Amino acid sequence: MMLDSAFVRSQFPAFQEPSLQGQAFFENAGGSYTCGAVIDRLTRFYTQRKVQPYAPYDASLLGGAEMDEARTRMSAILGVDADELSFGPSTTQNTYVLAQAFGQMMQAGEAVIVTNQDHEANTGPWRRLADRGIEIREWKIDPETGELNPEDLENLLDDKVRLVCFPHCSNVVGHINPVVEITALAHAAGAFVCVDGVSYAPHGFPDVGNLGPDIYLFSSYKTYGPHQGLMVIRRALGDLLPNQGHFFNADKLYKRFTPAGEDHAQQAACAGMADYVDALYDHHAEDAVSPTQRGRFVHDLMRAREVTLLQPLLDAVAARNSVRLIGPSDASVRAPTVALALEDAAEPVAAKLATHGIMAGGGDFYAVRALSAMGVDAENKGVLRLSFTHYTSDAEMDQLLTALDDVLS
Ligand SMILES: Cc1ncc(COP(=O)(O)O)c(C=O)c1O
Repeated sequence: MMLDSAFVRSQFPAFQEPSLQGQAFFENAGGSYTCGAVIDRLTRFYTQRKVQPYAPYDASLLGGAEMDEARTRMSAILGVDADELSFGPSTTQNTYVLAQAFGQMMQAGEAVIVTNQDHEANTGPWRRLADRGIEIREWKIDPETGELNPEDLENLLDDKVRLVCFPHCSNVVGHINPVVEITALAHAAGAFVCVDGVSYAPHGFPDVGNLGPDIYLFSSYKTYGPHQGLMVIRRALGDLLPNQGHFFNADKLYKRFTPAGEDHAQQAACAGMADYVDALYDHHAEDAVSPTQRGRFVHDLMRAREVTLLQPLLDAVAARNSVRLIGPSDASVRAPTVALALEDAAEPVAAKLATHGIMAGGGDFYAVRALSAMGVDAENKGVLRLSFTHYTSDAEMDQLLTALDDVLS
């Protein structure tokens, strides 16, 4: 089964937008286009339901029901219970709140393992726990490949470690980390696991229940939705960590780690992401299956399409002497988030690509630690990042390859 690209693109108003014609979007890892179902739900909420939700009048009841629908349907796709999913302002904010909770639960002398592969959001807040006497151990990437080796993690684990934090895949290295294997190692040592899924989830919502981590975070503005941070916290951990919300909400798991409260309209609009998964499933398959199975099917469709598009790009850049491809050159083990270290600063090259109708960026992408560990001058040069998703067309890939031929020496 191949993904129907024309159908996919018909679900995104950006592809019909006159001002974007001829512009090929390759900064999807920064934030994706939004699907029509999400835009329609957001508009409906703001025009028809923009009142305090959960009060006993129609507009309010409908608004509250849509917020609940988003949580229920997205959690079902992710393979977890509805109250194990909560919505915060962003992944950075969600991680910050979680770090406060761990800081209150842990004793001085206990340890947290972080990586130098992560975006700063899933490493900086945890490292600050050192101020409370908590030991921070760094699981380091290989400076050549940028990859994390699970054997190195084993050497860092002992009975002091309460938490292991790592990315499902890094936003510059792109290599997909073996979450099941790493989680099993951490759990066997008695530690909880926090996975930053921000760079992975746009390429297919994972079955988090099956993957096994205690925490899984991602950002819906990169998964075709509005600007929210979605956070799965499995019940055993969520009940154990000290409540960070209002005291009278402590018995509601989905409120315990969102002290800011929900953005009503955006949470409601997240149900549009589930609409999109359903639309893709219904267009490509017929069997009546559970939401988690629908999610898995759509995940695999997206991945297959992306791997096909990605390999020629990797081959083209790997063949250039002036370019260092960050991360693996085999499309099947990585996300289509391709960072290139160049001889010169990356941002002016992105500006040149813009004259060819390529929307891409250059810089450190808040992965300063990973780039520095790989010997890239994150501050002065950074990397050129070319990131796409299942909705990218063959023609856009050709446009990119032609433009790269022109701007890269
Ligand atoms: C891998 C990764 N983790 C975390 C974040 C932070 O997400 P948010 O912007 O929702 O705080 C980003 C944002 O680019 C990211 O790429």
